Amino acid sequence: MSKRTIVTLPGDGIGVVVLQEALRVLNTAGFEANFVHGDIGWDFWRNEGNPLPVRTIELLKKHKIALFGAITSKPNDEAKAELSPSLQGKGYTYSSPIVGLRQLFNLDICIRPCKSYKGNPLNFVRRGNGNTIDEPPVDVVIFRQNTECLYCGVEWTNPPAEVYQAFMTHPKFVENFGKVPVEELSISTRIFTRKATTRILMAAFEHARKFGYKSVTVCEKPNVIRETSGLMWKLAKEIQRVAFPEIMLLNTNIDAQMMWLTKNPEEYGVIVAGNMFGDIASDAFAGLIGGLGFACSAQFSSDGVAVFEPTHGSAPKYAGYEVSIVNPIAMIESACMMLDYLEEFILSSRIRKAIAEVIEEGKVRTYDMMKMSGRPEVLKNGAASTIQMTDAIIAKLM
Ligand code: NAI
Ligand code: MG
Repeated sequence: MSKRTIVTLPGDGIGVVVLQEALRVLNTAGFEANFVHGDIGWDFWRNEGNPLPVRTIELLKKHKIALFGAITSKPNDEAKAELSPSLQGKGYTYSSPIVGLRQLFNLDICIRPCKSYKGNPLNFVRRGNGNTIDEPPVDVVIFRQNTECLYCGVEWTNPPAEVYQAFMTHPKFVENFGKVPVEELSISTRIFTRKATTRILMAAFEHARKFGYKSVTVCEKPNVIRETSGLMWKLAKEIQRVAFPEIMLLNTNIDAQMMWLTKNPEEYGVIVAGNMFGDIASDAFAGLIGGLGFACSAQFSSDGVAVFEPTHGSAPKYAGYEVSIVNPIAMIESACMMLDYLEEFILSSRIRKAIAEVIEEGKVRTYDMMKMSGRPEVLKNGAASTIQMTDAIIAKLM
């Protein structure tokens, strides 16, 4: 069989550093692939006026799988000021290349697993009976619809007349906002489609079945947001009844879910939500298992494009450190998600086991795991560097 080709998109800042480390781990574990580099990020904005060059899009169209580090994104006026002098004033406008990738390839399914490692000092603990401390094991996988909802960009301040008139046909709008001057109105729309909602639900149920999760929880707010959250809940009931009767279907409201987060996180398995509530729920659950140094993700399109990336950004303030101090585990975990996708389950479980052993031993910990604030001095105070953490994981693979 010919070797697979993976597009590597390091991007900016610590994205470059952690991607390199994930590749070292993949190589040591014996993963065989060709890796081709794709240009993305700030340098390409500054020098070419495009942070997502067409050649990178073509690479992903061709090879369909990418490992992505992180990019730096800035507001448009700051971005314009940083364009190289030869490109200034030529009408270039900046937009985030990761959002661009999501839209262009319709990466509508986002999966964010949050699983605690035994011995991670950042794990959530709660008071048990008497004076005991409980450390509930968290193993939640969030399925976030990635392209619609409030993040779809259909919004106005001082909406044009035809939009205003359309809203004025809705009795609730007339009742609540009918007397507000139009120039004082800001409107952001929350759009769900049956197709995309069905896709995220199906993906969630299939994952639950494949990996043995007992329940799928729809985390929305259908009692108040009746049309969009209501659509997801209605479709979920139908899909569960027809195709996944063995999987328990639960319904939580996002606000209550955030309250229950610290009460009984061990009781949830797969959670599925629209874009915004999925974003909130995944950050919240990531906080229980160690935060950004541990939060990994995968994004999928309907035509077979898959992008794997840590949830964190480019952390520019750490990018210039002579010795990098950031935690590579989120990126390495994202690479494990890629291995799962390629059905290289033996490799992914070996790597996860190696990470688990390093964490449980507790001898090698990056600054975040030692609850230090990130400064170069952390290395003198016992924190491991990015490379030392990766080396420790690699040593377990040998
Ligand atoms: P960030 O995730 O880059 O960093 C926030 C803080 O989290 C850091 O200062 C650091 O304390 C901690 N952190 C992040 N990754 C860590 C790691 N691997 N190990 C240990 N600690 C870690 O978010 P921020 O500062 O809001 O954004 C920085 C840049 O990244 C911005 O330009 C933003 O637009 C971009 N960004 C890009 C994302 C992406 O590429 N998908 C996602 C989020 C932000
Ligand atoms: Mg977020």
